[in-house]
Amino acid sequence: MSTTNPPPPPRKLKTRILTIPPSSPLGSWSSPNSLQTWTLPPTPLIPPSLTLAATALTTSTASSFSTPVAFPTETVYGLGADATSSTAVKGIYTAKGRPSDNPLIVHVSDLSMLSTLSTIPEIYHELISKFWPGPLTILLPVPTSGQLLAPEVTAGLTTFGARMPDSPLARALIQLVGKPLAAPSANASTRPSPTKAVHVLEDLEGKIELILDGGDCAVGVESTVVDGLCNPPVVLRPGGVGIEEIRQVKGWEGVVKGYKDRSEVGEGHKPRAPGMKYKHYSPRARVVLFEGHKPVNVGKELEGGGQKKVGVIRTGEWEGLAGETEGRIESEEGGFAVRQGSLRDEEGKELATVLDVDLGRDVKGVAHGLFAALRELDRLGADIIFVEGVSDGDDIAAAVMNRLRKAASEIRP
Ligand code: TXA
Ligand code: MG
Repeated sequence: MSTTNPPPPPRKLKTRILTIPPSSPLGSWSSPNSLQTWTLPPTPLIPPSLTLAATALTTSTASSFSTPVAFPTETVYGLGADATSSTAVKGIYTAKGRPSDNPLIVHVSDLSMLSTLSTIPEIYHELISKFWPGPLTILLPVPTSGQLLAPEVTAGLTTFGARMPDSPLARALIQLVGKPLAAPSANASTRPSPTKAVHVLEDLEGKIELILDGGDCAVGVESTVVDGLCNPPVVLRPGGVGIEEIRQVKGWEGVVKGYKDRSEVGEGHKPRAPGMKYKHYSPRARVVLFEGHKPVNVGKELEGGGQKKVGVIRTGEWEGLAGETEGRIESEEGGFAVRQGSLRDEEGKELATVLDVDLGRDVKGVAHGLFAALRELDRLGADIIFVEGVSDGDDIAAAVMNRLRKAASEIRP
């Protein structure tokens, strides 16, 4: 008769945030205009917190219980583990509560590290020289000899996603570990991706031990995922690099969209049945997305809804609801203010409290603040969030609308 050991009891971990100051030495490229080798500073100059994180990522591979480390990239915070170790990668799925049929992106510090996993097909050469390091993930064939990836990284697929992040902090960490890091976004499954260290803490406190804080993520939405192994090549997920920029590259003129855009999920989309919603990128509050770029009367939209606190995220045409000057500033985090005011009917009767965020007209600014705004309105207790959509361009706007459509319980024209 065989006996099996019972699984270890769930442990509540002490989660620490370690700050890496912006001026820290993190290394440099060995030769200019080449992504071949990222060279770390001399050991005594490396920030001690970074060394600690690298040690945690290295030793966790050897033990049976393993916790990943959260670290900043230029897109969103990632939750990293040694991509070559099954034990380490399983720790990611456990901490996030993520189903393991969703493959993870493999992050490398330089091309020399990537070459241990795969040669790079010609179709990607120009793309890499234009957009790496940066918010672009390319699909490559899964290695079958030499350095292997843990099977949990690829979820049984024959390809894996590879990315060289623009964040020097991320590249220094990967180089210190000396192994590619598998890293999904460091949110709990279904929540908006984290763009600040505190967002990671909100979601994963007690589930991981270390969060490296390198400040706010510059881009704010995840990388663009492309597959150049098929013909025509495909953009699988819109992200930080716009499809219009990718189309400029030789071999990518005919790139197609492998995700649903406005034509499939846009205007006229029926409200999903409550409880039936496929949740992703979602705050606790119910999100209603307006695709129409026209003024909206929030009071009217609310009629009979019974909501007490209404969050509003504006991106251009909508007027301020809390009053630009009289609205009390409730919080000012990450480049936008949340103003609190009252939403009143024509007779002056208060309909609801309004929490008003203006992300501005610049779509890069909208992308930068989007996830943080959804989280901040949640934190301030919004019951419902009305979001003004942006025009669905082939730039980063495609990523903004893609995430919003997934976060929304309802899409209105
Ligand atoms: O910006 C980013 O990409 C961030 C930071 C941390 O680098 N990471 C990120 O990872 O967004 P994650 O796991 O949240 O999203 C990975 C996306 C998923 O949509 C997944 O389906 C896709 O990449 N993906 C990964 N490997 C794939 C593969 N072999 N084939 C198709 N899609 C893949
Ligand atoms: Mg994610």
